[in-house]
Amino acid sequence: MNEAHALTQGTVWAPGRVNLIGDHTDYTGGFVLPIAIDLGTTITWHSTNTSSQFRSDVDDVIVDLDVVPPPSHWGKYVHAVALLLQQQHVDPQIFGTISSTLPIGSGLSSSASLEIAVALSLGATARSRDGIIALAKLCQQAEHAATGVPCGIMDQLIVLAGQSKHALLIDCSSLDMTPVCIPDNLKIVVQFIAHRTLARSAYSDRVAQCTLAQEIIGPLRSAKIADLVALDDPVIQKRALHVITENVRVNEFCSALASGDFAQAGSIMTDSHNSLRDNFDVSTAQMDAAVHAAHAIPGVYGARMTGGGFGGCIVAIADVDAPINGWTVQASDGARLIK
Ligand code: GLA
Repeated sequence: MNEAHALTQGTVWAPGRVNLIGDHTDYTGGFVLPIAIDLGTTITWHSTNTSSQFRSDVDDVIVDLDVVPPPSHWGKYVHAVALLLQQQHVDPQIFGTISSTLPIGSGLSSSASLEIAVALSLGATARSRDGIIALAKLCQQAEHAATGVPCGIMDQLIVLAGQSKHALLIDCSSLDMTPVCIPDNLKIVVQFIAHRTLARSAYSDRVAQCTLAQEIIGPLRSAKIADLVALDDPVIQKRALHVITENVRVNEFCSALASGDFAQAGSIMTDSHNSLRDNFDVSTAQMDAAVHAAHAIPGVYGARMTGGGFGGCIVAIADVDAPINGWTVQASDGARLIK
């Protein structure tokens, strides 16, 4: 339970994530296909005799776990994770220094990355499948407490369970995670579009609308397009249509990748973007323009907004030498102790 603290000092690392396809499906038990990326959060810590404190290189603020409310935005996440771990009697005294290569608030799960890094530095472990799921759920709960956003489980799971050179097909009902190979001759490019926060965004409204749809037609995970006629409200109908079709797209995208049909994979990404734009209303004009521009670049197979939306990033898949701007990200291993 308390691996980090058999030691008196250490370093932990937790990646961010990019979702290749399957957005706004996790909180209704659907399918997602994220990768952990090679940008993330590092915490170097040592034992102390005082209360636990974390300092961030980002703003040079020190957050003391004994002082509530914390004097910074990121401190909310640290406090929320520490509180939940204390309830499990994981409560060491450490001083941790946080640094990050992830752009904050850009839709690459900087908060899930921070939550997992904090949990590991405080001594939480996640070695087995059950351990990974339990820690992901604890950090998801911390995110809910810190932000009020009723996010799904995707971000925390991929941050913990990511695999080098693979995406993870996550079934958000069973929480089964299946590695899906990213071919060497395909690059994944992320373009930052705009800062955003899901707190006070319409994310919660979308969750509520999906819940309403499910009260009428049952789990969206198993619903069919024919079931949509039972939904009188055209807005709720569009939300449900997105989720039902997005779940199908995730699985079709995996098959296209496996058979090396990148053109088909790209076209499925385009359909996903269009559905997030038209049915789920979570894209922005800037994101639409960036996706459109990416499609016009030779060697780009497809592009879409990624994550919760309302800003953030787009993701594209392309030939390795395609002249597309942005960060070429590598599918990476999940969070771990590195020293
Ligand atoms: C955010 C949430 C996730 C997921 C995505 C949309 O990243 O944290 O749980 O719902 O939005 O796919």
